[in-house]
Amino acid sequence: MACYGRSLDSPCTLALLVGFQFAFVLYFSLGGFRGLVSVLVHTTEPEFDYSRPHDVYTNLSHLGPPPPPPRNTGTGPPGTTPPLKECQLPSPLLVGPVSVHLSAPLSLEEIRRRNPLVSPGGHYSPPDCEPRHHTAIVVPYRNRQTHLRTLLYHLHPFLQRQQIHYSIYIVQQWGNSTFNRAKLLNVGVREALRDEDWGCIFLHDVDLLPENDHNTYTCHKQFPTHLSVAMDKFRYRLPYPQYFGGVSAVTPDQYMKMNGFPNHYWGWGGEDDDIAARVRLSGMKIVRPPVAIGHYKMIKHKGDRGNEQNPRRFDLLKRTRLNWRSDGINSLTYDLLSRELEPLYTNLTVNIGEDPHLPLLKFPNQRRPGRPPAPKAATRKAAGTPPKSPDKPPDVGTLAANVTRPAEEETRDPTHSAAANQTTQAKPGVIK
Ligand SMILES: *[C@@H]1O[C@H](CO)[C@@H](O)[C@H](O)[C@H]1NC(C)=O
Ligand SMILES: *[C@@H]1O[C@H](CO)[C@@H](O)[C@H](O)[C@H]1NC(C)=O
Ligand SMILES: *[C@@H]1O[C@H](CO)[C@@H](O)[C@H](O)[C@H]1NC(C)=O
Ligand SMILES: *[C@@H]1O[C@H](CO)[C@@H](O)[C@H](O)[C@H]1NC(C)=O
Ligand SMILES: *[C@@H]1O[C@H](CO)[C@@H](O)[C@H](O)[C@H]1NC(C)=O
Repeated sequence: MACYGRSLDSPCTLALLVGFQFAFVLYFSLGGFRGLVSVLVHTTEPEFDYSRPHDVYTNLSHLGPPPPPPRNTGTGPPGTTPPLKECQLPSPLLVGPVSVHLSAPLSLEEIRRRNPLVSPGGHYSPPDCEPRHHTAIVVPYRNRQTHLRTLLYHLHPFLQRQQIHYSIYIVQQWGNSTFNRAKLLNVGVREALRDEDWGCIFLHDVDLLPENDHNTYTCHKQFPTHLSVAMDKFRYRLPYPQYFGGVSAVTPDQYMKMNGFPNHYWGWGGEDDDIAARVRLSGMKIVRPPVAIGHYKMIKHKGDRGNEQNPRRFDLLKRTRLNWRSDGINSLTYDLLSRELEPLYTNLTVNIGEDPHLPLLKFPNQRRPGRPPAPKAATRKAAGTPPKSPDKPPDVGTLAANVTRPAEEETRDPTHSAAANQTTQAKPGVIK
């Protein structure tokens, strides 16, 4: 009633003014409109208690028994079991944060015993419901036995709880040439799609272990997904906005749209940024799970022999815009040497050819005086060169075995730039 007073100094007008002021302060301290909305409508990030993780094998015993072998007793054609119900969404078996065991992994035989429902080739499909997702996990690999066992021990129960249909493909680079992660991924995608009509393909580093099973190994319908958004190594933050390394996922359609991945990144670094650039150039964007879900632990290790930093990565990145349509899945050549169905994974061993620049490694911190600086023609050629006709001087093999390596290689760290000092300083803007 007092509020109907006309004068400006009535107690009610004053209260109203103070009230508005308070509301404005609140509004801005909450981060403007979006902050206000998130407080009122609960669009805040999900929260998980990572201090009390579950064992990664929790709830596995709840999985149904393996389906009975099809009986062909004469009545009716084989394989006419009644259709299963679709799996529930989200899976009722999820537990959230899971613990990660990084040291002393079990033997492959023991891991197999703990995952009785996984069939040869590292293949799994829920026994008691019809899966909604079909995912191939592709892991580029060479000489990382203990990392591989750690990954298999962790990933199999993790994925089974998500009630998806999946297979794990290890793409092993044969020979001693420099490691080429992106090309191995191309091979893995193509070979996996030869097996089955996968709806989603995961590109997975061997040394990354997901810490939360709500991070489902499925694809976004429209856009490529980057999943390892919060790695322990980067203090559980994205190291930079366009980061696409570690664990990411594409559908076959998205993969075709971006013409796959580059084939000419030999050695550590750059190829993930190239892939991120392809996503943009082909008119797509990167989607990500919330940081609270995309937690990963990385196995700490020294860099591998044969995976030295790629000194040309920044030069290559500058040319992605010109090259992505001609270099990729449409120019991929390789020689599949074997395909073995191991109990816990499919082993694809592949000859992807030689790094045409291998002799450069002898001088990791300087350009070779006599050599033209990474000519465009040579790069082009590298992609199309069939593996069996190495275009290189004859002494490369011996050099490779005897190259002086940088004293200590770092792990995959895009913020680390010591070894390629001069290259990095020349183009500091590229990686930011
Ligand atoms: C899965 O494990 C959690 C934690 O142990 C438990 O609360 C939940 O009931 C389990 N789910 C099923 C389906 O058993
Ligand atoms: C790789 O190097 C090892 C040891 O130097 C050698 O025994 C092997 O034959 C090489 N492999 C290839 C494919 O060149
Ligand atoms: C994959 O197969 C190749 C060829 O048989 C073999 O040399 C290699 O050890 C296998 N790798 C793994 C990880 O099983
Ligand atoms: C490798 O290097 C050592 C010492 O640097 C040298 O004695 C040896 O001859 C080299 N071997 C080859 C194959 O170049
Ligand atoms: C990188 O450059 C800095 C300064 O230019 C120098 O102090 C450092 O030793 C260099 N590091 C390497 C690995 O070359």
